[in-house]
Amino acid sequence: MKIGVIGTGYVGMVTAVCLADLGHDVIGTDIDKEKIDKASQGICHIYEPGLEPLLQKNLEKGNLSFSHDLEETIRASDVLFVCVNTPQREDGSADMCYVESTSRSIAENLNKYKVVVEKSTVPVKTSMWIKRTISLYKKGGGEFDVASNPEFLREGTAVADFMHPDRVIIGVETKRAEDVLVKIYDTFKDKILVTNIDTAELIKHASNSFLALKISYINLMAELCEKTDADVELVAKGMGLDERIGERFLRAGLGYGGSCFPKDVRALIKIGEDLGVDLALLKEVDRINTSRIQSYIAKVKKALWIIKDKKVAVLGLAFKPETDDIRNAPSIALIEELQNEGAFLRLYDPEAMDNMRSITPEDPPKIVYTENPYDAVKDANAVLIVTEWEEFRFIDLPKVKDLMANPIIIDGRNVFDPEEVRNLGFEYYSVGRQ
Ligand code: UDX
Ligand code: UDX
Repeated sequence: MKIGVIGTGYVGMVTAVCLADLGHDVIGTDIDKEKIDKASQGICHIYEPGLEPLLQKNLEKGNLSFSHDLEETIRASDVLFVCVNTPQREDGSADMCYVESTSRSIAENLNKYKVVVEKSTVPVKTSMWIKRTISLYKKGGGEFDVASNPEFLREGTAVADFMHPDRVIIGVETKRAEDVLVKIYDTFKDKILVTNIDTAELIKHASNSFLALKISYINLMAELCEKTDADVELVAKGMGLDERIGERFLRAGLGYGGSCFPKDVRALIKIGEDLGVDLALLKEVDRINTSRIQSYIAKVKKALWIIKDKKVAVLGLAFKPETDDIRNAPSIALIEELQNEGAFLRLYDPEAMDNMRSITPEDPPKIVYTENPYDAVKDANAVLIVTEWEEFRFIDLPKVKDLMANPIIIDGRNVFDPEEVRNLGFEYYSVGRQ
C-alpha cells in the first residue's frame, strides 16, 4: 500500500513522517516547493521536538519521499491523507477551498481504487462534499471511498501524540475503506474506534471545543479567585482530583491560542448556526478567551499606572511552549496593545522570534528582539511572562532583579511561586492568585 500525504504543513508533515516510521511507504507533496525541497534534504520547516531526526531516519530507510508533483503523488497512491489547511473565514466558518481543489485533483487522477482520508479538521458533512466533487470531476470509472481520520496531535508533543494515541478515530461508510485504515493503524489496534463519517468529523470539533471550554471555565474561576482569597491553582487541583473532571486543561492563564482551538470553536458555532442549533455556550467560551488579554493589560496598568515610555520585557511569544508557532498567540494581541500604549518592548522567545519578526519587525528602540531573557529584562520597568517555557521557570531570578530598573513581574502563566518571588524582593502579579 502506498500512502500519499497532500499538504505537508504541521499536520501533514507529522502524519507523513510517523506513518513512514510505522513501516508504511509514504510520499508527501505540497504546493509550497520550498517545504518539499527542504523535507527531501531532511530539513523540517517547523520546530517540533523529535520530528527532524525521524524524518531523516525514514528518508534514509527509503520508505519516505517528497515530491513537487501532486498529480503523480495521487496516481501513485492507494490511500491519500488530505492535510491541506482549512483556514477561518470572516464569518467563523472553515474555508474549504483547498479541500475542494484537492478533491478535484484526486478526481482527475483517479487511476485506481483509492481511499481519500480527511485528516484536516473539517466541518461535519464535508465527506459528502468531497464524495460529490470527486464523482462530478472524475473522468473514468475509477472507484474510491472517502474516510475521516481526525488528527489530535498537539504541537510540541506531536510525535509522541501520534505514536501513543489515546484513540484512533476511523470514520467510514464501507468495509473496504475500514479494512484499509485498520491495517494502516494495526500498531494501535486496541485504540481504534470505528464510526460513521459524520460522527468522526464531529468528534474532532467536539473534542477541541470541549478542551477550550475547560480552559475558559478555569479562566473564569481565576477571575473569581482574584476577587477572593481563593487560589486558582488549588481550585484546579481540587477539581481535577475528581476523576470525572480530570486535572488536564485546567491551567488558568492568558487563554488558548494556536491554529486549532480558536478556529475550531468558531467553526463549530457556525456549523451549529447552519444546522439550526444555537451553540451559545461556545460563544461564551470564545468571548471569555478573547477577554483574557484585556484583563492582563489591566494588571500591567495596575502595576505601571502609565504604560507610555515604560520599558517592558515580554518573555514568551509562541502560543505555548515547545513550539515556534505564533498562530493566534496571545502575545500578538498583547504586543499590539502595548505598542498602542507607547511602551518600549524587549521581546524574547527561545524558538518563535523569527516568526514574530515577520509580523512585528524589529524597530529599535520601540521593538527590540534579544538574544536571551537577561538582555530582555535589562533596565525593564516590568517583565511579562507570556509563554511558560521551562527556560523561564528556571531563570536566575536574583540576576533578573539586579538587571531590572523596577523588579516587577506580571506572570500570565503562573510560572513562579508567589511567596518565593516576593521573598526575593519582586512585586509579583499572577493569574487567579493573590
Ligand atoms: C491546518 C489547520 O491548522 C488544522 O486545523 C487542519 O486540521 C489542517 O490544516 P496545519 O498542518 O497546521 O493544519 O496547516 P499548515 O501548516 O498551513 O499546512 C497546510 C499545508 O497544505 C501547507 O504546507 C500548504 O502549502 C499545503 N497546501 C495547501 C497544499 O499543499 N495544497 C493546497 O491546495 C493548499
Ligand atoms: C490542540 C489539541 O490539544 C489537539 O488535540 C489538536 O489536534 C490540535 O489542537 P495544540 O493547539 O497544539 O493542540 O495545543 P494545546 O496543548 O492543546 O494548547 C492549546 C492552547 O491552549 C495553548 O495556547 C495553551 O497555552 C492553552 N492551554 C492549554 C491553556 O491555556 N490551559 C491549559 O490548561 C491547556
